[in-house]
Amino acid sequence: MTDTNEIIKKIQVSGIRRFDEAISDIPDIIKLTVGEPDLPTPEHIKKAGIQAIQHDFSHYSPLMGFQKLQVAASRYFNQKYGLTYAPSEIIATVGATEAVATALLTILNPGDGVLLPTPSYTSYAPVVAMAHANLVPIDTTQSGYKLTPAKLAATIQAHTGQHLKAIILNYPTNPTGVTYSKAELMALVTVIRQAGLIVISDEIYSEITYDQPHTAMGTLYPEKTITINGLSKSHAMTGWRIGLIMAPQALVDEMKKTHQYLVTSTSSISQVAGIEALTNGLDDGPKMRAIYKQRRDYLVARLSEIGINYVYPSGAFYLFAQVPANFQGTSWDFATQLAQQAQVAVIPGSAFGTTGEGWFRISYAASQSALRDSMNRLATWLTDFESH
Ligand SMILES: Cc1ncc(COP(=O)(O)O)c(C=O)c1O
Repeated sequence: MTDTNEIIKKIQVSGIRRFDEAISDIPDIIKLTVGEPDLPTPEHIKKAGIQAIQHDFSHYSPLMGFQKLQVAASRYFNQKYGLTYAPSEIIATVGATEAVATALLTILNPGDGVLLPTPSYTSYAPVVAMAHANLVPIDTTQSGYKLTPAKLAATIQAHTGQHLKAIILNYPTNPTGVTYSKAELMALVTVIRQAGLIVISDEIYSEITYDQPHTAMGTLYPEKTITINGLSKSHAMTGWRIGLIMAPQALVDEMKKTHQYLVTSTSSISQVAGIEALTNGLDDGPKMRAIYKQRRDYLVARLSEIGINYVYPSGAFYLFAQVPANFQGTSWDFATQLAQQAQVAVIPGSAFGTTGEGWFRISYAASQSALRDSMNRLATWLTDFESH
């Protein structure tokens, strides 16, 4: 007999955090690792947070969040993407992380199958395991890191009789920065609808889309989409912990219970700041997006010049690049040596699943000078390395 749960025993702290912790003490390291905005939370939102403390918002909120927040979120996502969730169909969560966990733990029965395009963000697979469900990864490396309707249909077909319940989509995508056009999503929805799948659509980077407008899955497949979003990335509020679940009422009524027994409610103070962000902060995201876009453009130019292959990113603040072919070793070895020898920290692609092996992720939620210095260091290191 062991003291801990067998599933938890097999789960590890995410490769992102493990790698980041492993290299953090290297002197003069430039960290392009963790995916969080380097930009400050906008002033008007900070002020609302301060006032919330002064006005004693130091008690529980209703389970699903303050009604004002639900109303503000309903309007915001309608204005931004044409979503039509009623306030009662919205739950304020402890970041998108809790939103994902609450959604999965609510819908999954033991043995259910959950489709996941890979490489993918790290927090889905462990929660699927905690729910005693089965992850069905779909390799997207041969189709530009995007799921295609043909590949989806073939995977569903190959799992006939295995009770596929849901698919997790995340776009713009962490770690590749790719996103989907409306036409691409509509083609996927045709297959998804036919299979009767629930979509958990993690759109936390919806505001950071550079080359085309973001299309929300909830506008195309409202009957079975659980939309995940939040303020962490759009308003540089990762530490405030405001996420959102938006879904049809019947699903929300069930998720409310999971949410209650996981966390009761998210921070009241943060919710007041969130109401301000959702009511008067419609332009905050686009301002930050313009800054990220400049950095994206800079990075792709530098990497092209250095001769590193990458996936062209259309959103989020990540760039997925290929470990040079002449490097002997894993992506973890590559990132470790780059950190130790050139003081540049990136995340090994294997942190995002086996399909990420051979690649690495650069987070460009970092200052222009950090990006410039890191690219200079990378270029010099690679030249030294090639000359040996
Ligand atoms: C795709 C994706 N979903 C969810 C999250 C977690 O967001 P939050 O900080 O709001 O919990 C992240 C954070 O990096 C992410 O990249």
